[in-house]
Amino acid sequence: MRNWDKMTFQRFKASTFEGVTPEMKSIFDRDGFLVLDQMVSADDCDMLRHRMTELAADFNPAEHKTVFSSTSGRHGSEDYFLSSGHLIHFFLEEGATDENGTLIVPKEQALNKVGHALHDQDPVFSRLSRSHRFKSLASGLGLTDALLIQSMYIYKQPRIGGEVLCHQDATYLSTEPESCLAFWLALEDATEDNGCLWGIPGGHRNRLKPKSLFKRCQNGGTKTIILDNSPFDEDAKIAIPAPKGTLIAFNGLFPHLSAANHSDKSRHAYTLHLISAQADYPDDNWLQRPAAMPFKGF
Ligand code: FE2
Repeated sequence: MRNWDKMTFQRFKASTFEGVTPEMKSIFDRDGFLVLDQMVSADDCDMLRHRMTELAADFNPAEHKTVFSSTSGRHGSEDYFLSSGHLIHFFLEEGATDENGTLIVPKEQALNKVGHALHDQDPVFSRLSRSHRFKSLASGLGLTDALLIQSMYIYKQPRIGGEVLCHQDATYLSTEPESCLAFWLALEDATEDNGCLWGIPGGHRNRLKPKSLFKRCQNGGTKTIILDNSPFDEDAKIAIPAPKGTLIAFNGLFPHLSAANHSDKSRHAYTLHLISAQADYPDDNWLQRPAAMPFKGF
């Protein structure tokens, strides 16, 4: 039995969360992340999982075979990915298909993630995403005029759930000035065995900008612009295991990663990204919406 309290960083019990305390804020500013255990009830975690099971039942992998891979990045040129900013689209795991794109595992085990507008397109995900607690957390961490711009349901499937390399989320959701804030919610226990989050405490303070930018090209597709090719200080990374219901909030510049899941246990998570409406959101960010569906706040 894992003792979640015996970790090398401070965790907060948030079952009675009523706002960000000065201690929470100073830890968040210093380390770039904040761990809030029991921020979401087990029942609400189960509700999201159940709802995703319903949504995924309607997905036909024969129609959309877009593999999401943070290592190969090949999804970046596909319209199904590029048009997902305001929709609910389903992305496959790299190890779930053969060289012809044919599924080699059951559909329910083939999904890598679902995104990127669950928080606007589905009432169950919207309700949780726009809860009073999430609103209070965002404002307490210093985000003014929050806009909810991206949501993802991430599977990290048993045995085939792929590695996510060290990155900063602001690479994908850049604003001027930087304002990206991430919420990462464990829908099941996330441990070192099944691919929990890892991060570099304080790594968000080393640079004032993301090291790279993932941008949409005018003529279609995407490109990655390297601003600083020095490696992340991965020797300083720590595991951030998270029991079911734990929310990890982190700065968009916080370097983080997750290992492949070689265990027999899935590691479902729900993530939400927010920016400030007072910051400029460039129109070459990969995630764009039609004019009729602008980003919304809480
Ligand atoms: Fe990330």
